[in-house]
Amino acid sequence: MPKVLVTGGAGYIGSHTCVELLNAGYEVVVMDNLCNSKAGVLDRIETITGKKPAFIEGDVRDYDAVKRALCGVDGVIHFAGLKAVGESVKKPLLYYDNNLGSTITLLQAMEEMGVNAIVFSSSATVYGDPATVPVKEDFPLSCASPYAYTKYMCERILEGACVANENLSALLLRYFNPIGAHESGIIGEDPNGIPNNLLPYIAKVAVGQLPKLTIFGDDYPTRDGTGVRDYIHVVDLAKGHVLAMDYALTHKGAEAINLGTGSGSSVLEVFHAFERACGRELPYMIGPRREGDVPEYFAETTKAKELLGWVAEKDIDDMCADTWRWQKGNPNGYEE
Ligand code: NAD
Ligand code: UD1
Repeated sequence: MPKVLVTGGAGYIGSHTCVELLNAGYEVVVMDNLCNSKAGVLDRIETITGKKPAFIEGDVRDYDAVKRALCGVDGVIHFAGLKAVGESVKKPLLYYDNNLGSTITLLQAMEEMGVNAIVFSSSATVYGDPATVPVKEDFPLSCASPYAYTKYMCERILEGACVANENLSALLLRYFNPIGAHESGIIGEDPNGIPNNLLPYIAKVAVGQLPKLTIFGDDYPTRDGTGVRDYIHVVDLAKGHVLAMDYALTHKGAEAINLGTGSGSSVLEVFHAFERACGRELPYMIGPRREGDVPEYFAETTKAKELLGWVAEKDIDDMCADTWRWQKGNPNGYEE
């Protein structure tokens, strides 16, 4: 079976993707500098799959280290990057250096080593505030933060590299809102500090580490006034990466593809789904809108189905049940 280098493979989406790659028979090498993850996740991947990925602790901006990591590799899935939107506004140079630097270094090393398939973690954030929903891949792009610009620019860099090298294949996967955890409860999301994102925040309220959820606005033009997003189960997302790698290994050129479920849930709907998952009512209050938030977006998913044969299978109740299982069993994440 082909061998895949997974950069950022110790992180949230990367670790779930390693599980699905190993289950599909791929050989996996992880390269991660552990700036936002812990090496212990690799043992947990082994607990789930019976196989431990090879691990290189290193930075994807280190050209020689990446070249060594690419020995015998057929394709790359590039998750490594910084992802906190608010932090990117405060530290733009850190974000441009890390996210652009890692992508450029990786592409240079791939060229040198003759590796011609890459799957890249982009984000629905490149659509900005879309004029209509569902959001299609050919909609105009616009960026509201340095983080969003890094995703936009990496997409253009990858497209340019595919024009220059006709053997190269690049899939630009635009994720909507990944949530959930592996159904075993053994791996999941482990954010540092107080979470910014909705699901990790609710999970910490449910486990008693935060007093209550503040809902950022209930006066949006949506069905219940709260923001609507396309939440996608991280295991569905991970399976999408396996299919994307299969595709990249057998095609040429660049393709941007949305990975979402194709329908939206409101903040209140997600909150009540989490209450069902943990079996009790949870405290919340309505607060002001959060700056920069858009009212509603969800994905048009036809392209993923047509090109990759991929559709999301899990619903919001699965996502909340799996998040709760992970949070309850690991109240302090990967800390023992
Ligand atoms: P994560 O922080 O859990 O994983 C990223 C991993 O990359 C971490 O393990 C980190 O240690 C590593 N890393 C960062 N910079 C590195 C570098 N220079 N060299 C080596 N390793 C490095 O994040 P995630 O949620 O798993 O996201 C993975 C990718 O998907 C990121 O590129 C992110 O921007 C993108 N994405 C995430 C979301 C989301 O909601 N989680 C949404 C859209 C896109
Ligand atoms: C954010 C990022 C986006 C990233 C995505 C996935 C911004 C502007 N965008 O999107 O780039 O890809 O995360 O992780 O930051 N909410 C509350 N209370 C909370 C937290 C969130 O009401 O404590 C609401 C938000 O207003 C929003 C919804 O929940 O309506 C989802 O928020 P969040 O999980 O932060 O994701 P996004 O803002 O969609």
